This record gives sequence, C-alpha cells and structure tokens, in this order.
Amino acid sequence: MITPASSLHVLHLIIVFLLRAPPCPADGGTWSMLLPNIGISAMHMQLLPNDRVVIYDRTDFGTSNISLPKGKCRPKSKDCSAHSVEYDVASNSVRPLMVLSNFWCSSGSLMPDGSLTQTGGNADGALVVRTYKSCDTCDWQEIQNGLVQERWYATNHFLPDGRQIIIGGRRAFTYEFFPKTPDTQKAIDFPFLVQTNDPRIENNLYPFVFLIPDGNLFIFANNRAILFDYVKNQVVRTFPTIPGDEPRNYPSTGSAVLLPMRIVQGTVATVEVLVCGGAPGSAFRHAIKGIFDGALDTCGRITISDPDPRWVMETMPMARVMGDMLLLPNGNVLIINGGSAGTAGWECGRNPVLNPLIYQPGNPVGSRFVMQAPTTIPRMYHSTAILLRDGRVLVGGSNPHDKYEFTNVFYPTELSLEEFSPSYLDSTLSGLRPVIISPVNGATTMYGKQMVIKFAVSKNLNTSSVLVTMVAPSFNTHSFSMNQRLLVLHSGIPTIVRKSSNYQVTVTMPPSGNVAPKGNYILFVVHQDIPSEGIWIHIQ
Ligand SMILES: *[C@@H]1O[C@H](CO)[C@@H](O)[C@H](O)[C@H]1NC(C)=O
Ligand SMILES: *[C@@H]1O[C@H](CO)[C@@H](O)[C@H](O)[C@H]1NC(C)=O
Repeated sequence: MITPASSLHVLHLIIVFLLRAPPCPADGGTWSMLLPNIGISAMHMQLLPNDRVVIYDRTDFGTSNISLPKGKCRPKSKDCSAHSVEYDVASNSVRPLMVLSNFWCSSGSLMPDGSLTQTGGNADGALVVRTYKSCDTCDWQEIQNGLVQERWYATNHFLPDGRQIIIGGRRAFTYEFFPKTPDTQKAIDFPFLVQTNDPRIENNLYPFVFLIPDGNLFIFANNRAILFDYVKNQVVRTFPTIPGDEPRNYPSTGSAVLLPMRIVQGTVATVEVLVCGGAPGSAFRHAIKGIFDGALDTCGRITISDPDPRWVMETMPMARVMGDMLLLPNGNVLIINGGSAGTAGWECGRNPVLNPLIYQPGNPVGSRFVMQAPTTIPRMYHSTAILLRDGRVLVGGSNPHDKYEFTNVFYPTELSLEEFSPSYLDSTLSGLRPVIISPVNGATTMYGKQMVIKFAVSKNLNTSSVLVTMVAPSFNTHSFSMNQRLLVLHSGIPTIVRKSSNYQVTVTMPPSGNVAPKGNYILFVVHQDIPSEGIWIHIQ
C-alpha cells in the first residue's frame, strides 16, 4: 500500500533523479579504473613512443604515497618517496622515478629522439631542464641552468628543427629555445605577454600555442590571439578578441586545440583553432573569498587561414573550467575533466563536471556536441588526460590542495588512473575496426614520402569512409596539451590486396616540418569514424 509518506518518498526520488539527469542523453563511452593508487597525483603526463607514460607531480610538499626504489632518499632531505613515476600501458603498472629539483607547474615536449625534455618549475627547479629517456632502469637527468629565465606555468612547442620553444611563465614575459644554439642563448622579450597580463590575476599563463603550416605560431593568451614569427621575432597578425572578452588561460583555465588539418596535394588549406570553457575574469578574486563564479559555457572557433578571420561562438551543453581538450584519432575533440564553478588554483574550483563531451567539428553548428557517460571521480585542479595508442584516454590527477589531503576536504587528492574508452572502442563495432598489418609499429619515414598501409577489416569496407590520421603525442598539464596536432593524410582510394581479404591504401607523408615537426607520431587507419589501434611512426 502506498502511504502518503512513501508516495512523498517516491516523488522525492523522482525529483532527485530529474535533478541528476544530464541535460541531454549521455550515451557515449565507458569508464574503468586502471590503478586505484599510483602513489602520486598525476599533474603532468606525456606518452612516450614505447607506450610508457611519464607522470610527475611536485617535490616540495612532503612525502607522496610511493617509495623510491632500493631505500633511496632525496639528497639533504628525509623524503624517501617518489614524485614521478613511469606508467607502462602494456602491464598496467608503475615504476617510481627520482627527481631532484622541483618541477611543479612546469612544461615540456617530446624531442625527435623520443625522449622527454621538461623545462622549469618552481624555486630550485625554475631554471632546470630535465630529460627522460625511457628504459627499464632509466631515470631523470637534470641540467642545472638549462634555461636562462625562470619558467613556471610556461608553454612549450616542438619546432621543425628539432628544438622546442618555451614561452612565458609567471612574470617571464619572454621566450627562449632548448637546446641552446650559439645564436639563441638569450631570452627574447615578448611584449604580447605583457599586454595580455592583468597583474592582479595573471590570466595569461600556460598560453595556448600551435605551430601552423606557414611556419608561424598561433599564440592565444587571456582573451587575445596573434600569429607570431618566432624566427624574426615579429607579430604577423592580430586576431579579434574572443567575443565576451572573458579570459581563457590559467587561472581562468579553458583549453584549446588546433582542429584536424587535412593535407591535400601537399598543402593544408584550412587551419582552425577551437577554444572552449574558462572562467570569468572575476572568478579567481571571488574564489579566494569563497564565492564560486559559474564557468564559461562557450567555445570560440576561428579559421586562422582566412583572410579576415572571425570567431564563431558556440554553446556547450554545460559550462566548464579546467577541462582538457584532446584530439581523438577520428578527428573528434574530447572535452574532459574540470568543474563548472570557480577557477584553477588551490581550493578554487567547485561543482565537478563528470560527463565528458565529444565535439564533432565536421557537423553543422547545433549538432556538434555529444554528451558522454560520467565518471564517478571528480578531476579538478591538477588533473590530466592523454590519448593512448590504442585509442583509450588515460585520465589521472586532481589535487586542489597544497599538500596531499585524503579526508575532510572537497575533492581529496586523487592518486588513481582511470581510462575513458570512447564509443568507437565498443566491441559491437569490432567488425568495422581496421587492423593495421603493415608497416609495423615503430616504422620510420620521411617528409613527402608515400607509404603503403595494409590493413584488415572483417566486415565490408566502405572505401569512401577511410581516413589515415597521424597524431602527435602531447605534453598535458593544467588542461592544455602542448604539441597536440592531428593530420589527415592525403590518401588514395583503398583497394583490395590480391588473393587476400585485406586492403591497402597509399598515403603521402606531411610535406614539411611546419606541418609536422620531426619526431614521433601515432598513425591510425579510421573506417567510418572507428580508428584502428595506432602504430608509432617516426618522421624526419
Ligand atoms: C597515503 O599515505 C598517507 C600517509 O601514509 C596515508 O595516511 C593515506 O591513507 C595514503 N593514501 C592513499 C590513498 O594511499
Ligand atoms: C560510406 O561512407 C560515405 C562517406 O562517409 C557515406 O556517405 C556512406 O553513407 C557510406 N556508405 C555506407 C553503405 O555506409
């Protein structure tokens, strides 16, 4: 019998359900826990060409939850815990690494040889450059005074000549290069970072930087963007301010991607950038007083290859600050992690957004966003996400506290690693999924060269729905993925390989280092939006 009390209870459940129901159907992707405790909080992540991931946090807060190997301790310290680990995708396990100086809120880039070069950090680490070349027993190497200016919250980007450019950082209104060459020993003044800096909140840290095919850098800081010739040290173009004028960089942390670039006959005709989320300019000052402003729910998209580029604004199904934007192998953009109130910074974020979004750049405006299934773990400030070679997304970190805090706080320090599997990994689609037969993982190639890719698909192949894409593995921290780019290669029509049920397609490698700086990429064959497992290729 339904009593008034129990019918009220039912009504209450329905209301709770309605309140919790996402505003549009969440039908994509699945989550699962990979490792509940890797011993550190994953503030920075980089995938390496051997499918291991370098993960690191900071060194200056006390002990982590994983010991250094063989009873080692940090010099002149009672701290015998590790602040960096190497995660091995194949065995789903971590190995602790030793780092001496503080690489908190730093930046980095893979080098052409597949090693990670990481730059800057805080205090004793602000001028240090560290390299990590992966092997079973390898560890960090540190170069004291590798930088000429202290860099904390800077952005790095790899360059066609194999160096990286390191731009900005707190109170560092300059850029420099690494490795140093005789003509680039100094830091070079960069007034754009002064112009976009509001000294009260420094809303232009971790600028969004992309190398574009004409050889210039697109640089977005606060609410403005330029094209910059880093060779001549000249601003080539100034883009309109993003509509709404609200900041998009740390601590009003939004994110940005260079949308997939399609190469046709050796050229990229259209170059577009997408910037999503962030927080109002007032949000940081309010958050430190305990008032949490709503995050921005807009994205701005701009075709920077147009003679007269304009921002086109779109509205996301929900607002987000501290979201990560990742290019998926099929050219869609995943927007993941973050919250819907407050800003980046210790204790400054609220209302975790547990549902990722997928943005389909080729769809008409209004039908681009697809809500994804939610996780149960808030990934707030200091969380990370990177694409793995098999198409999964590795998600970690979240520590909005000065120390590791596990109880009696909003959003306890997260030591877990989860995976998000986009719906293209559903087993029901396996008949459509390409399997690359050759070349083998680790192949090398050269600019402009043709490559024959042999692959199998168990169901019928729709030859007009095959793409070959190539993704640069990015350095992820603070909601930005440095070096991230996806190229759709110029390709012929796939044909059947004689006397087999396999196919082959001939693709042309990118024309130059401005389109694809030399180094390591993951190549995918995509059929009807479903990517194969990727293979590493090295281009030079
Ligand atoms: C981390 O270590 C601290 C101190 O030993 C302990 O209190 C805490 O429960 C550990 N947390 C996790 C998630 O392992
Ligand atoms: C094959 O792919 C093309 C391009 O994506 C699409 O328009 C067409 O509907 C597909 N055909 C089938 C049978 O799925």
